[in-house]
Amino acid sequence: MSQARKINVGLMGLGVVGGGVASVLLDTDQQVSAQVGMPVTLKKVLVRDSSRQRDTSVPVEMLTTDPEDLLGDPDIDMVVEVMGGIDPAARYLSRALASGKHVVTANKEVMAKHGPELFKAARQGGANLLFEASAGGGIPIIGSLMGQLLANEIRSIRSIINGTTNYILTRMAYQGAQFSNALAEAQEQGYAEADPTNDVEGYDAVYKISILASLAFHQRVPPEDVYREGISRLEPQDFRYARELGYAIKSLAIATLDPEGVGARVYPVLIPVDHMLGKVDGVYNAVEVTGSLCGQVLLHGMGAGRGPTTSAVVGDLIDIGRRIQAKEPPADAGFSGSSGRKPLPVRSMDDLHTRYYIRLNVTDQAGVLAQISRILGDLGISIASVLQKDTFPQDQTAELVITTHPSREASVQEALRLVGSLGVVNRVSNMLRIEE
Ligand SMILES: NC(=O)c1ccc[n+]([C@@H]2O[C@H](COP(=O)([O-])OP(=O)(O)OC[C@H]3O[C@@H](n4cnc5c(N)ncnc54)[C@H](OP(=O)(O)O)[C@@H]3O)[C@@H](O)[C@H]2O)c1
Repeated sequence: MSQARKINVGLMGLGVVGGGVASVLLDTDQQVSAQVGMPVTLKKVLVRDSSRQRDTSVPVEMLTTDPEDLLGDPDIDMVVEVMGGIDPAARYLSRALASGKHVVTANKEVMAKHGPELFKAARQGGANLLFEASAGGGIPIIGSLMGQLLANEIRSIRSIINGTTNYILTRMAYQGAQFSNALAEAQEQGYAEADPTNDVEGYDAVYKISILASLAFHQRVPPEDVYREGISRLEPQDFRYARELGYAIKSLAIATLDPEGVGARVYPVLIPVDHMLGKVDGVYNAVEVTGSLCGQVLLHGMGAGRGPTTSAVVGDLIDIGRRIQAKEPPADAGFSGSSGRKPLPVRSMDDLHTRYYIRLNVTDQAGVLAQISRILGDLGISIASVLQKDTFPQDQTAELVITTHPSREASVQEALRLVGSLGVVNRVSNMLRIEE
């Protein structure tokens, strides 16, 4: 790394986000340099295919397909990684950091899976590593957890952090759309990828909440410890019944801290329609943080897209640039274990204590509810409400919607197994947790 009097940047990736970052660095370089206090220059851009036509102002001679042109160049002080994927991104970042190049990344998968190794490499190389865009896009949640909220013990994070999923759920709620139609519409609008698995099955949100929980609780909460359910099993009637009960359905990424441990989960929930998170619609994201001093804080905004993500990436770049300018030592992101307290265990989903919404398809005859109530009662699950919903005279079945008082997850799972085996129950159609 050069002993910088100016900062040379190597950009890895020139797609949706990279295109935005390049145009800020090329078109408004004066402003960026003024913010940093020294000249900031885009030097090289790594892509897969340098012959591709691109709608950017990046000169062709700046493009390269050889990572050595960035990683092996001692004049490049900072690498901005917006390629995505694990390999080769994790390898490139590890090498850049270990050799003293500062790194900004938008890569949630790399940060969630390889964050600790990357911080180790950063310490080894004396480099900064920032990753604001890796969760919540343009919402400054990571910087808040690493800065202004540090005085708090963070008790919980509840977030809507996948815009694709939230768009689909909004369509299902307001248009009564089937999941498959809402997904097709999201794909047409460019909000969902051709293979939507990562978004609709919750993997993307798992990576993001893994990062946020690790920062909030100062201990590693790896993605494999995050419980996950997707949204593809939701049906239009779930939204109708939820609304009748006063709830919206949202996919939440949740992280909690209590004396027994930390918990992290991603799944669709019922949340009161008048709760702020219940009103976050379309591709918008929101993150609610509950801290010991600040109480509840809610950040709301665009979680993806060129502009919002570029805002987060360039914000990190300026932050690191200022540290370089001020000759400050690298900041410790507190990603894992800097609080000085012993890491708490990750709590099992079995121990979750919450309210439940259960939708059953049953035979339309007397005595059905009594059989179901007996099973729930025997397992200590108290019923809060029962709605007999749509009936289907042609096959003499009916839909029964039950909500419970707070109950233990393991008991509810056991009850659903037993209820599902009753002769009068055709199907356990859905089970959702209720957030208040
Ligand atoms: N898009 C968003 O709204 C958003 C929001 C938050 C975070 N992010 C994160 O930002 C990152 C980039 O997302 P994106 O939407 O900008 O992706 P994208 O549009 O698919 O662009 C990826 C870019 O990386 C280059 N690239 C990919 N693999 C490469 C390799 N092995 N070697 C060299 N270049 C490679 C591609 O080169 P070619 O152009 O030659 O194909 C392309 O320019 C991802 O980690 C994503 O999760 C994105």
